[in-house]
Amino acid sequence: MGVQRTLSIVKPDAVSKNVIGEIYSRFEKAGLRIVAAKMLRLSREQAEGFYAEHKGRPFFPALVDFMTSGPVTVQVLEGEGAVLQNRELMGATNPKEAAAGTIRADFAESIDANAVHGSDSEESAAREIAFFFSTSELCERV
Ligand code: PPS
Repeated sequence: MGVQRTLSIVKPDAVSKNVIGEIYSRFEKAGLRIVAAKMLRLSREQAEGFYAEHKGRPFFPALVDFMTSGPVTVQVLEGEGAVLQNRELMGATNPKEAAAGTIRADFAESIDANAVHGSDSEESAAREIAFFFSTSELCERV
C-alpha cells in the first residue's frame, strides 16, 4: 500500500465539544502525521462542492446545513495506508454501528452529526486534499 495522504475533517459537532486535540491525538498515536491543518467555517458553496457526489440524496440539505453550522478543522494525514487507517480510526458512518474505541463511537451522536470525515479512497483523497490545500501548504515531515 505504501505511504499515502488522506483528507480528514473534524466536523462542527466535535469542534463544539472541544475534542479536536483528542481526535488529533488518536491520529498521532496510530502513527499518522499531520502534514497540513487549518480551521475554517465552510460557506454553503464550499460544503455543496465538497459533497457534490451526494447531491440529490435526501440527507444532502441537512448535511450542508450541518457542515456550515460552525467551524471545522481540515487536515491532511500522512502515513502507511493512511486512507484505510483513518477510516478504521473513525469507525462506521453511523456511530450506532461504529466499533468500540473508534472516534465516532466515542464522540459522535448520530449519522447526521458524526464528528469526522475521512477520504474513502486514494482518488478521493487527492481530490479532497486539492479542494482545501495548495501544494505549498502541504509540509514535508521527517
Ligand atoms: S453512504 O450512504 O454509504 O453513501 O454514505 P457515505 O458514503 O459514508 O457518505 C455519506 C456522507 O453523508 C453524511 N450523512 C449521511 N449519510 C447517510 N445518511 C444520512 N442520514 C446522513 N447524514 C449525513 C455522512 O456522514 C457522510 O459524510 P462524510 O463526511 O463523508 O463522512
